[in-house]
Amino acid sequence: MPTVRELRSMAGTEPITMLTAYDAPTAEIVDEADVDVILVGDSVGNTSLGYETTVPVTVDDVARHVGAVARATEDALVVADMPFLSFGVDEADSLENAGRMLKEEGAAAVKLECGPHTVELTEKMVQLGIPVMAHLGLTPQHVNQYGGYPRQGTDREDAERILELARAHEDAGAFSLVLEHVPANLAAEITDVLGIPTIGIGAGPDCDGQVLVVDDAVGLSEWSPSFAKQFGDVRGEMRAAVEEYVEAVESGSFPAEDHSHEEGDLDELY
Ligand code: KIV
Ligand code: NA
Repeated sequence: MPTVRELRSMAGTEPITMLTAYDAPTAEIVDEADVDVILVGDSVGNTSLGYETTVPVTVDDVARHVGAVARATEDALVVADMPFLSFGVDEADSLENAGRMLKEEGAAAVKLECGPHTVELTEKMVQLGIPVMAHLGLTPQHVNQYGGYPRQGTDREDAERILELARAHEDAGAFSLVLEHVPANLAAEITDVLGIPTIGIGAGPDCDGQVLVVDDAVGLSEWSPSFAKQFGDVRGEMRAAVEEYVEAVESGSFPAEDHSHEEGDLDELY
């Protein structure tokens, strides 16, 4: 499995692949397909828990899913996404919450939605042995601040702000950086300037790697952002299978003899 050091050294050499996963069977499939990094995203709130945003997702929610993914993963680097307000409020709480993902659930690193408030925290985590993946550009935990999910870094001032934060987090010891929904030329510039790998989502082709929400990538999501690409139609496949099941039960064709056990000895019942 790539360690955080190996992942770091992939910058500018070979493209890094990253997908989310939230449960054991999906993690197995993603891992067997040789994806480098599995992110247990707080996007679990949208994909699996029925929330509209990631704001309500708790540490317990993410921890439960990290455990499931880590138990099913042999090779990929498992990264736990720290949910809204689980970090950056109080340092001791931040370290305890992040530490739990490694100590109790089997993650190898955490991801933080970053800002000026996570520079020192990143340094502290790294000093303590908690590897940090930074995340800049669109940070969905700010949905209430943004009033939606607008592209970031579109003017010079905001682009500079993001670039400076990227540098600061590299200096603080982050081993990689997710860039979400920023112009491709800004992502390319940041990728050029940084030594650590950038992993883009809606950030153009010039990052060191790419990440998607697995439900979007395989076509399980009901809705997905315009920057995601569907590489399959899992939703359609599942619907077809479920419809076939309903039809088979209703028509009496399932269970057939193949699916039935031999008759038991009911002598004593009579
Ligand atoms: O939660 C998530 O899935 C993420 C990725 C989209 C980077 O943060
Ligand atoms: Na996330």
